[in-house]
Amino acid sequence: MSKIDNILANATFKEHLSRINEAEIDRIYCLHGIEHLLDVARISYIINLEESLGFDKETIYAMALLHDIGRNLEYEKGVSHHEAGGDIALGILRDAGFDEADCRLICQAIKNHKELKKGEDKRSLNYLLFKADKLSRNCFSCKAYDSCYWEESKKNKGITV
Ligand SMILES: [Fe+2]
Repeated sequence: MSKIDNILANATFKEHLSRINEAEIDRIYCLHGIEHLLDVARISYIINLEESLGFDKETIYAMALLHDIGRNLEYEKGVSHHEAGGDIALGILRDAGFDEADCRLICQAIKNHKELKKGEDKRSLNYLLFKADKLSRNCFSCKAYDSCYWEESKKNKGITV
């Protein structure tokens, strides 16, 4: 099995994703299920190719699949899903076969994807995840547009090509 298939088969991954799906059944705002995770993976990989960033495809897909894995803990315990997600992701990545350097890089990107540090390198994995996560949201066709907490300037009002 590939490292990505190992993540999909991981019991901790499946448990968190299932709890996120349950918690979001009636949610009118952005969801964090497998569709979103794969959108972020594919957008990240496209940017990676377009901008010749040079990140490994499995690194990108693992990062995207795990970036919101702490969401249910944010719903259940009020903790930051970024921080919690980075911690949960570490064990899953190790079990999936990623080496320590990749684990560190991916977990750091997950922990930092809420907002970018000043001067963040635009060719970093942190920046790539942040950008792809935001680009993945179709605000222009969202029924909850008016009550969404996102600042007006951050909403995707169209499709950037
Ligand atoms: Fe996300």
